[in-house]
Amino acid sequence: MSWDPSLYLTFDDKRTRPAAELLSRVLTDAPDTVVDLGCGPGNSTTLLAARWPDARIEGVDSSQEMLDKAATSGIRATWSRADIAEWRSATPQDVIFTNAALHWLEDHTTLFPALMDQLRPSGTLAVQMPRNFEAPSHTLLHETVVETGDPALTSLLRPNPVANADVYHRLLAPHAASLDIWETTYLQVLTGEDAVLAWTSGTALVPFTSALDGEACDSFVEAYRLKLANAYPPEPDGSTLFSFKRIFIVARKR
Ligand SMILES: C[S@@+](CC[C@H](N)C(=O)[O-])C[C@H]1O[C@@H](n2cnc3c(N)ncnc32)[C@H](O)[C@@H]1O
Repeated sequence: MSWDPSLYLTFDDKRTRPAAELLSRVLTDAPDTVVDLGCGPGNSTTLLAARWPDARIEGVDSSQEMLDKAATSGIRATWSRADIAEWRSATPQDVIFTNAALHWLEDHTTLFPALMDQLRPSGTLAVQMPRNFEAPSHTLLHETVVETGDPALTSLLRPNPVANADVYHRLLAPHAASLDIWETTYLQVLTGEDAVLAWTSGTALVPFTSALDGEACDSFVEAYRLKLANAYPPEPDGSTLFSFKRIFIVARKR
């Protein structure tokens, strides 16, 4: 799967705002070690470096394209390539921050306790994930993939990976001294033509466009674009309203 950092950063402000809102609820004062899992091009890492100027900050991502972009950003951090599912910290971390990344991984029942194990006592796990898998942007993508009848594409479809808030509470409560879980729905006002397509092109579409070439890719994207145009008609001023639900979790370890 091939990420395009520039495409992803087209909506930098809207993608980074949840990271800032998550960070505002992390009450750690002066951590020594902070890791940003699924750091992408470094847009979330830059917030961490600004908040904790004396901390050792590491960005971890599985995409070399994203890490290359992050490395050129001038952010005060080190960068490592790893799969979060297998990532284990060399030393216990004070803060594990992960914005808009864990929904790309399966089996949260195993993953979340494993991440808590990488914290020192009283360390903090801070997570934000989209929880909009029932929105037309996603259901229409699913529908378009199924309609291709192409096994190479349909095999990439995944069940909704993100559970309800109460599931994460039950999963983390045995490990946590405190837990703060909430959801926010952002009514995003996008500008430009095919704005929702532009949004998903940088994220949810990536596994499918990475698996297709040339004309097959173009006709797949066009079929999806037409469905989106119906589901998200432009407002009289030309903008597009794109409602987006996200879940936030801040767990302080016992
Ligand atoms: C939507 S971007 C989030 C970037 C940034 N954290 C932000 O706040 O906008 C998701 C990132 O997670 C990374 N990612 C997805 N699955 C991963 C995995 N299993 N291990 C490591 N990184 C992963 C992707 O490469 C991508 O850079």
